[in-house]
Amino acid sequence: MSPIRSIRGMRDLLPEESERWTQVEEVVYDTVRSFGYREIRLPLVETTSLFRRSVGDSTDIVEKEMYSFDSRDGESLSLRPEGTAGCVRAALQHGLAFNRVSRLWYRGPMFRYERPQKGRYRQFEQTGVEAFGIASPALDAELIEINQSCLRKLGLDKQIRLRINTLGTVASRRHYVEKLAAYLRSRSNELDPDCVRRLDRNPLRILDSKDASTRKVVASAPSIQESLDDDSRRHFGTLLELLNAASIEFELDQGLVRGLDYYAHTVFEFETEMLGAQGTVSAGGRYDGLVEALGGRPTPAAGFAIGMDRLVLLYQSVHGEASESRPRIVYCAVVDAECTAYLMRCANRLRVDLPGFEVVFDTAGGKIATQMRRADREGATWAVIAGQTERASATFALKAMREVGDQQSLTYDALVAYLRESGNAK
Ligand code: HAM
Repeated sequence: MSPIRSIRGMRDLLPEESERWTQVEEVVYDTVRSFGYREIRLPLVETTSLFRRSVGDSTDIVEKEMYSFDSRDGESLSLRPEGTAGCVRAALQHGLAFNRVSRLWYRGPMFRYERPQKGRYRQFEQTGVEAFGIASPALDAELIEINQSCLRKLGLDKQIRLRINTLGTVASRRHYVEKLAAYLRSRSNELDPDCVRRLDRNPLRILDSKDASTRKVVASAPSIQESLDDDSRRHFGTLLELLNAASIEFELDQGLVRGLDYYAHTVFEFETEMLGAQGTVSAGGRYDGLVEALGGRPTPAAGFAIGMDRLVLLYQSVHGEASESRPRIVYCAVVDAECTAYLMRCANRLRVDLPGFEVVFDTAGGKIATQMRRADREGATWAVIAGQTERASATFALKAMREVGDQQSLTYDALVAYLRESGNAK
């Protein structure tokens, strides 16, 4: 029988890899918290209708990429393809969005049935940030600053550029979409078949088509800027002033429309050239109409999500395979199985008395030489050994694994003092 393998596009992260993830995650989570955002934990599964109504019925995500299934009671459910919809649903359900400001963040896996390749997976991880109740463009600037701050701390700010655009208010966006659709319809014979199909359902997405012939048509399409009303212009203008004042570099890109329907006003993407085709590391924008569309009262809102798989990939390609950052490891081994309880008690006390150390107990046992080989393989700095002699004299034998030198016989207190001192000197 052939062994069972993981599902295509869904990866295992092995220990070395997951250590690197933890390093990157800690920077991102700490940064988000430092801006006053509070973590919300959301379900992985929601009703399919939530995504239809928020992400949009005619988007690729909803049309082709969701993992949907009927629950036992016949209701259609979906694995979440993104986090904003669930976050808005939760904010409404728990009264976090009305008449108050809520700054929330979440993390976890998202699921999209896309064609897997480097940087694109069917299960991938996002760290998302959503803020409710703030209409000011200062929030849009803050969201961009959070990204910048993460990238700076990770030493990645030179590898990423920020592209930014405005879709205008919900009303001006609607007006623009009508104008755009009329223009595209007049040249529909020059569009690729996929875009012809999109004409009725989602003409905005035609703006970021990669097809050469479609791109020519798009080049002379009416500009979104011309359709902006005063409110939209003012909002975007102030945001750009704030970014300039903060010395944040950006590129205006009128083709940037995003693949989800809920955006209005600002949209942005942080992009790198170092990851090939899947270069968008973080993306987001304002979605003032969404809370109302999901049954709440009109509430301004904005957010973004970092694709953590891509951020880790970028971190690795810039900084190389991170050096092993194993902490100080103490490896405990018994010469005689009868001393197991004696040494285990010592190991448990060491774990309390030596924060920042790893205390590994050789539960496999056997010959002491075999155990020492295992200690070496574990990368142990010291071995603490006990046999009948040590137990009888209430001592422990300490052996430095990475230096030459004799074994020492120490009481528990002397052992802790010694390890603490030589551990901190490392
Ligand atoms: P999104 O652009 O669909 O936006 O995804 C955000 C980020 O998730 C992308 O820029 C990318 O880094 C990562 N990502 C997306 N799909 C994949 C995949 N198949 N494999 C690996 N990484 C992927 C959203 O999801 C919005 N909810 C963002 C947002 C939050 N807007 C406002 N608030």
